[in-house]
Amino acid sequence: MVLNFKVGGEGTSFSPHIFNNHMKSIFFKTEYDADNYGHFGTFGGRYVPEMLMPALEELAAVYDAAKQDPDFLQELMDLYKNYDGRPTPLYFAKNLTKQLGGAKIYLKNEGLNHTGAHKINHCLGQALLAKRMGKKRLIAETGAGQHGLATATVAAKFGFACTVYMGAVDYERQRPNVFFMELLGATVVPVEHGTKRLKDAVTAALQDWISNVDDSYYLLGSALGPHPYPSMVRDFQSIIGLEVKEQIMEQEGRLPDYLVACVGGGSNALGLFNAFLENKEVCMIGVEAGGRDITKIGEHAARLQSAGKIGVVEGYKSYFLQNDDGQVQSTHSISAGLDYAGIGPEHALLFEQGRVAYHAVSDAQVIAALQLLAQTEGVIPALESAHAVAYAIKLAPTLDDEKIMVVNVSGRGDKDIFILGDILGDEKWKNYLKKKSQ
Ligand SMILES: Cc1ncc(COP(=O)(O)O)c(C=O)c1O
Repeated sequence: MVLNFKVGGEGTSFSPHIFNNHMKSIFFKTEYDADNYGHFGTFGGRYVPEMLMPALEELAAVYDAAKQDPDFLQELMDLYKNYDGRPTPLYFAKNLTKQLGGAKIYLKNEGLNHTGAHKINHCLGQALLAKRMGKKRLIAETGAGQHGLATATVAAKFGFACTVYMGAVDYERQRPNVFFMELLGATVVPVEHGTKRLKDAVTAALQDWISNVDDSYYLLGSALGPHPYPSMVRDFQSIIGLEVKEQIMEQEGRLPDYLVACVGGGSNALGLFNAFLENKEVCMIGVEAGGRDITKIGEHAARLQSAGKIGVVEGYKSYFLQNDDGQVQSTHSISAGLDYAGIGPEHALLFEQGRVAYHAVSDAQVIAALQLLAQTEGVIPALESAHAVAYAIKLAPTLDDEKIMVVNVSGRGDKDIFILGDILGDEKWKNYLKKKSQ
C-alpha cells in the first residue's frame, strides 16, 4: 500500500487527537486502483456527453490538488470526528456469535454516523470540493434516501441550494427520508419515468447537471459513474476500513479473516475493503440483492450472481442487468439502496480478478436476519445492511470459532419503518397509522 499523505504523523500540523492515533490517510493506491483515466482494468472510464467533459476534468484536477493539501484533509477529518461522530464503533456481537456458533462476528456500526448511514462520509468530502470549485448548488440521486438525506444535510450546513432526484417507487417507500430532506431545505423530485428506481434517478440527475453544469455540483452517491467519481467516493469511504484495521488490532491483535458488506453501487463495501485489498489473507465478500427470485429478470438486483452483462451505462463501463440489445432491465429488491441494475467498476474488476467473492441473499433471508440481529444484539440495521448480516449468518456457523468476521452495518433501520410494518403485518402499527391519517 502506498500512502500519499499522512495525517497526524510527524511533519504535519494535524492533531493526532483527532482519531487518537497517528495514521489516517484516506488517500492511498492499491494494485486494483484505476489508471489516470479512471480505468479499473477494462471497466470504468468516462463515457459522457462532450459538454460534461470539462466539468469532469475540472473535478478530477480539483480533487487531485485537494488530496495533496493538508488543510483539506484536516478540515475533512475534523468534520468526520466532530460533525459525523467518527470513528464509528467496531463491536463484538457476542450474543449473535454464541447463538450461531462458529466465527466471531464483529459489527462495524456505520448506522451511528450522523444521518444514519455511511453516505455522509462521501458527502462531506464532496461538499468541501464543491465549495472549492465555487459551486452554489448540489444535485444528487438517491435510492434509499440515505444519500439524499446526507446531501441535503451538507447542503444545509455549507449553504448550497439542493435538488435530489428519487425514483417515484423509492419516493413512496422511503417517505421518512423525503420528509427530512425537505425539512433540511432540499427540493426532492420524484422521477416518474423508466422503472422509477435508482437508475432513473441517476439519469435525471445527470440531465440536470448537463443543463446546470456551471453553477451546480453533481454529488454522486456511490462508487460509480464517470471518472473520477468511483475512485473519489471510494477514497472518502476508505475511512471505514482504516478504522476497522486499527480497531480489530486493538481488540483481537490481528486482522480479520472475513469482511462482509452489501453492494448496491458499491461505496460502503469498497469503504470497508479498500484498506485490506493488499492483505491477501483477508477474504472479502460482497452481498447483492437476490430479491424474490434470482433466476427471474425483474425480481432481483444481483448483477454478478445472475444475468449481468458488460456494458456502458450512465457514464461508465461495468456489469449491468440488461437484455441482448443492451437495454437495462428492471430490478427488484426489498431495499431501495440495492435496487440498482449496475455495479461500480472497481467491483467489476475485483470480481473478475477473484479478489472479492460475490453472493446474493433473498428478501426473505434479509428480513429474518434483521429480526435476529435486532433481537440478539439490539441493533436494527437498514434493509441494505441486513443483506450483509444475512450472508454472515449463513457463513459464520460453517467456520471454526477461531475465525474473525467483520460485517459492515452500513446504516440503521429507522428509514424502513413503513416497509417493515407492512411486511411484518404489525396490526398495532397499522391501526396507529390509520388513526393518524383520520
Ligand atoms: C444504508 C445503505 N447501505 C448500503 C447502500 C448501498 O449503496 P452502496 O453500495 O453505495 O454502499 C445504501 C444505498 O442507499 C444505503 O442507504
